[in-house]
Amino acid sequence: MAVNEKPSTRSAIVESLRREGGYVPGTRLCEELGVSRVAVWKQVEALRAAGYRIESERKGYRLVQDLDSIQGWEFPDYESRIVHYAQTDSTMDRALELALAGGAREWIVLAESQRKGRGRRGRTWKSEPGGLFCSLVVYPGLALADFALPLMAAGVALCQAVREATGEEAWLEWPNDLYLGGRKLAGILPEFLSSGETIRFMALGLGVNVDNRVGEGATSLRAASGKRVSRKELLRLFLERFEPMKESGYGGEGLGELWWSLSSSQGRAALDEEGNRIGHAKGIARDGSLLVETGRGNVRAYGLGKAALTDKEKKK
Ligand code: BTN
Repeated sequence: MAVNEKPSTRSAIVESLRREGGYVPGTRLCEELGVSRVAVWKQVEALRAAGYRIESERKGYRLVQDLDSIQGWEFPDYESRIVHYAQTDSTMDRALELALAGGAREWIVLAESQRKGRGRRGRTWKSEPGGLFCSLVVYPGLALADFALPLMAAGVALCQAVREATGEEAWLEWPNDLYLGGRKLAGILPEFLSSGETIRFMALGLGVNVDNRVGEGATSLRAASGKRVSRKELLRLFLERFEPMKESGYGGEGLGELWWSLSSSQGRAALDEEGNRIGHAKGIARDGSLLVETGRGNVRAYGLGKAALTDKEKKK
């Protein structure tokens, strides 16, 4: 586990070198950051070990080659919450361990790859390097019946982040997948502990195919858009959108409508668990259930896993 020992100094050095573009005298870094020359040197060495190319001359330090890193020091606003692994079994396991250890601290667990990435319904999640694999530990303080709210908020934030980072029209797909060009781009997995009727904590797992190998029926941002998308930028955009929703108790009444406006599910044919056609998707209820128009103006709510949408009318 690579938890940053001196994240603030490291973060400030990267920021300063990036801002300056050219050489930054070591003495200036020491003054700006209030640390010794040795401390600056140690942090520069750590950054080099992480893959940044930093030149040192008499004139000072210079960033020769930057990195699309998702280490904590790249996210000054969140770095105390970030735990980063080069590889782990599943960020969900690490997130749940942290939550169970107590302290009610929020965490953002990231991994470059996962040995046992997991998805919904017991499926595995292909987790090779190049993807974004993240689990957030949150304490929604919600009733069990409202467990879908953080999930929907994460879906909205992720969809918006992908659209902004790429300019591509990604769409949410009920219950909470993200599709691009008719293929699955990302998935969100909620796992939580409840006590009585109340959620004690929740781990929200986000898997986004950015520039990694994907399974059948899936796509990556690279494959679908032809663009190199920065994982750092994507995560930053996601957190910028998710955090305010979290702070406001997960969007209240407007969240379902926002989710639906970003979804490709409107009017799609819906099937029940046995594969029988039950009607057309009409909306999403506050608890995340799919509202299906079953005929003659009747609308029925189907909970997660109780219905599926046909592929036919999926947006491109
Ligand atoms: C789905 O089945 O659509 C949900 C996939 C969720 C995958 C992510 S990757 C990060 C986190 N760690 C895991 O093992 N799974 C989730």
